[in-house]
Amino acid sequence: MAQIIDGKALATRIKEKMSTQMPNLEAKYGRRPSLYIILVGNDEGSQRYVKHKLAAAASVGMDSRLIALEPTITEKELLDLIHVLNEDPLVDGILVQLPIPKHLNEYHIIQAIDKGKDVDGFHPLNVGELWQGMHGIVPCTPKGIVQLIMSTGVTIDGKTAVVVGRSNIVGKPVAKILLDENATVIMTHTHTKDLKAMTLLADILVVAVGKEKLITADMIKPGAVVIDVGITRNAEGKLVGDVDFDAACEVAGYITPVPGGVGPLTIAMLLKNTMECFLNHAEASTNVSKLWSKIIESRIGTDK
Ligand code: GUN
Repeated sequence: MAQIIDGKALATRIKEKMSTQMPNLEAKYGRRPSLYIILVGNDEGSQRYVKHKLAAAASVGMDSRLIALEPTITEKELLDLIHVLNEDPLVDGILVQLPIPKHLNEYHIIQAIDKGKDVDGFHPLNVGELWQGMHGIVPCTPKGIVQLIMSTGVTIDGKTAVVVGRSNIVGKPVAKILLDENATVIMTHTHTKDLKAMTLLADILVVAVGKEKLITADMIKPGAVVIDVGITRNAEGKLVGDVDFDAACEVAGYITPVPGGVGPLTIAMLLKNTMECFLNHAEASTNVSKLWSKIIESRIGTDK
């Protein structure tokens, strides 16, 4: 019987640790990390995700703001707003909740966000750094997935990891991170001829498709770590993952539930990324202040 990986409990521990750091940060830098979330339109799923993100940020003591925009906003108006936030020294993190309405070009919008405030890790420069092994700001869901795997005590090094789904948000970045952890990574997708033959090789199986019961118990290698990223509402209105959970529990070694697995970690990693951006900004402005003090001191010295 598989052990259930409790993402909610792990995320709570991460957030609790972060909350305890907040007073010290405020004392040292004179402010707290700030996260600005832009939501365009009225998509119910996006509204729910954003609500969770804002609540989590507030729960650890971060400044979190929602900018809710009409679905009719033009690309120019949205880009102008992003530029204002980019220039504001009190904004550490900017997140544009996806998907955005079709008339807005997602690539233009993501690219406009300051690389150092891109808490999603979606900016082409952050993506490029990830693929070059530099791991600057890493996308939240893949970062959370690796934390979940590590929480089992199973080593990634030398294992065969199979990723199902090749999205920019999950499939591709998680494959790269697992590769950097020295897994042998197989990427599968809609054109993969024999998915079962691939998934049966997986010591670590990451599924991110959004299709109920795509992965059945007979597709899982006994003892495998199964990470279910999919989340959809089934015909009965229940939130379900991509893995046939009850049957998979009989075969897998470890498995994430849906909900309560990957989702809470994604949010915890968003807070970690916001903290990382804040520390970079706060340290940079402290260094500039120190430099100015030195310049002023040396000028006063010369004038004497
Ligand atoms: N929509 C679904 N997942 C995500 C995410 O991780 N970040 C953003 N910005 N939008 C999303």
